[in-house]
Amino acid sequence: MRVPMLRSFRILGLLAPAAFLSAQVADFGGSYVYPTDQIPVPYSAAGERNAVSVLRGLEGLPFDPEKGYLLPVLEKLGIPISSQTLVFSKTSFQAPLIHPRAPRALYFNDDVYVGWVPGSDVLEISVADPVRGGVFYTLAQRRGQRLTLRRADECLQCHASPRTLGVPGHMVRSVYPAPDGFPHTNIGSFVTDHRTPFEQRFGGWYVTGSHGSMRHLGNTFAPDEEQPDKVDRESGANVASLTSRFDVSAYPSPHSDIVALMVLEHQTTGHNYITRVNYETRNALKAQETINALTNEPDAPWSDSTRRRVHGAVEALLSYFLFAGETPLPEPVTGTSAFTGDFRATGPADQDGRSLREFDLKTRLFRHRCSFLIYSPAMNELPAVVQELFYSRLRVVLRGEDDSGRYAYLPKSERRAILGILAGTHPAFRASMVR
Ligand code: HEC
Repeated sequence: MRVPMLRSFRILGLLAPAAFLSAQVADFGGSYVYPTDQIPVPYSAAGERNAVSVLRGLEGLPFDPEKGYLLPVLEKLGIPISSQTLVFSKTSFQAPLIHPRAPRALYFNDDVYVGWVPGSDVLEISVADPVRGGVFYTLAQRRGQRLTLRRADECLQCHASPRTLGVPGHMVRSVYPAPDGFPHTNIGSFVTDHRTPFEQRFGGWYVTGSHGSMRHLGNTFAPDEEQPDKVDRESGANVASLTSRFDVSAYPSPHSDIVALMVLEHQTTGHNYITRVNYETRNALKAQETINALTNEPDAPWSDSTRRRVHGAVEALLSYFLFAGETPLPEPVTGTSAFTGDFRATGPADQDGRSLREFDLKTRLFRHRCSFLIYSPAMNELPAVVQELFYSRLRVVLRGEDDSGRYAYLPKSERRAILGILAGTHPAFRASMVR
């Protein structure tokens, strides 16, 4: 997804007849960033409870002179080391410490992301908070010092931007990096997810794994200032080991697994979609309430504008969750770390052992194209009426009753499998089936 900086926020389908509203997808692209005073949740207020809360008030964690509290913190958060990915471009807040010889390491599970840069005295943490969206923290790394988690809303200068769908959130960014790690931003960069063509992905990242004849921007540099998009993709392709590139022994794992990277791409944008839909629909419903109060008609039906906003947002989330527009893999992809197995093992499975965390990696990322993010706690925080709409649209699609044509790429067998898995593992979906 290229970020078009100059396009303004577009409200789609102003003239569409009401009957077609449910088929429209809101366009969350463009340069729109949620103004702070319009965020419909208590973003800055303290007292949040999320997957990072387990780190509060911890004492006596073992301190390592090189890695500080990194390993015990990952363990407390339930984040596997196999999720490690390495980014060497100077694109984030500790840029001066990041270098192709000292990449930044990222670790993640379904809800939390942890960043560690060798030699730094802070860990960076972000979480998909169920109510607020992306929330950011730093954790001081000094021996003998009490573990203190600090809310770091200043991180939003980069983490609430057009690159994060305009809401506080997460991202994987691909750039054309110079040999010292500085990005050649003059020729642009990409925020990447499962829809991004392979050739645009992983610029500024190390990538370990095999991917046949496909080429990406990882493991390599753009050495020519005059022609920064001239990159030797061959030298970065199908790299199994990073030992010749930097001192991998300084890191908990020698890998920057390609499958972990692909899940990270899918998940970061996925979290942003949930947040954006949460904000968008809460504001639309609030506006409707205000109009109803002003007109003294508390039970008046939704206006066209409310319908459009809510339905468009729900459809955008559905379309992302069902992998519409996913870039096909012409050849199989294989990672190098234990990530593929670790990731698969954590999910809920139905009575036939099927799970939304099963990989395909032959022609696409996942075997069953419905995102595992559907189990996110944040889904339960969407307004009830929005959840109801979302699950009912999902049911219509999975039962083959959708006539928008948007999901025609999902074969019947796959739709039935997803329906079975959700019926067996997802309480809110199951409850919506009997309504
Ligand atoms: C200068 C811009 C910038 C600032 C400021 C910034 N980040 Fe980031 N952050 C990035 C970029 C870009 C990425 C994508 C990976 C990369 O290029 O390093 C990222 C990725 C991350 C990730 C991985 C997943 C995610 O949430 O996107 C974490 C964790 C993170 N940042 C934490 C923080 C924290 C904590 C702060 C504040 C203390 C912060 N960042 C401030 C640019 C920034």
